[in-house]
Amino acid sequence: MTHIAVLGSTNMDLVTYVDKAPERGETVTGREFRTVPGGKGANQAIAAARAGATVSMIGAVGTDAYGARLRDTLEHSGVDTDFLRTVQGPSGTAHIVVDAEGGNAIVVVPGANGTVDHLSPGDEGVIATADALLLQLEIPLPAVVAGARAARRHGVRTVLTPSPVQPLPPELLQAVDLLVPNEYEAVTLTGRTDPREAAAALLELVPEVVVTLGATGCLYLARGTEPLVVPAPRVTAVDSTGAGDTFVGALAVALAGEKPVREALTWAVAAAAISVQREGASASMPYRPEIEAQYGT
Ligand code: RIB
Ligand code: NA
Repeated sequence: MTHIAVLGSTNMDLVTYVDKAPERGETVTGREFRTVPGGKGANQAIAAARAGATVSMIGAVGTDAYGARLRDTLEHSGVDTDFLRTVQGPSGTAHIVVDAEGGNAIVVVPGANGTVDHLSPGDEGVIATADALLLQLEIPLPAVVAGARAARRHGVRTVLTPSPVQPLPPELLQAVDLLVPNEYEAVTLTGRTDPREAAAALLELVPEVVVTLGATGCLYLARGTEPLVVPAPRVTAVDSTGAGDTFVGALAVALAGEKPVREALTWAVAAAAISVQREGASASMPYRPEIEAQYGT
């Protein structure tokens, strides 16, 4: 069975649904407030587990009530949390405003995620047995670099979501196989405004790039092959929080399961399209039969 390891963040998402996000100095009345489990690491772990993989989550939650709920949520989706530590203090939180079109703005406070700045005993062993290691940038960079290098040592494919976007040091890029930015991140990392040009610039740094394009789908580039454009099905988005994480989790499972690249991308786009039609990050992620059904349409 496919085994995916994730080294990254867990956050409690504090989500407010509004008709229009407030400007600076403006007060608006929201429609609804919810606390829902998220964090890019945990989201990708849950997406991969629901897509059919065995998943190990490496990271940390706090000693607050959110920490227990975040751990429970992962376990409920079948994610192994033996390497998810509990550290003194608050869990990570994300303050999210979701607008009427399902778009969002997010402020992340790291909390326990900030303590994950190195690999702990046992982490490398978990990474070594995985088919792929999924990384994002919501834990300190030294741990991301250490994780990517550990994966490289064991011939494990590394997938990096460069979010929150920041400059990527060469020692990290050298150990990344697949980079999955969204359009904003691709543009910010390269200074190119056209997603195709941005992807081409990133391909000089890593062997494979997928730029996620929201409702448009995604763009895939690998060295020595023709670019692939995979469109997304037309759906009505209510909350796109975690759609990119859903895409990455599903894509990693499909690629590890040896689906050809175009099929794997189409499958991941289908998973993300399902997730945007439901509220909450991990709560909205589809199970494998739902992805198969959407994929077939
Ligand atoms: O990628 C979506 C995630 O970003 C949210 O779940 C939130 O926790 C932030 O980390
Ligand atoms: Na969603």
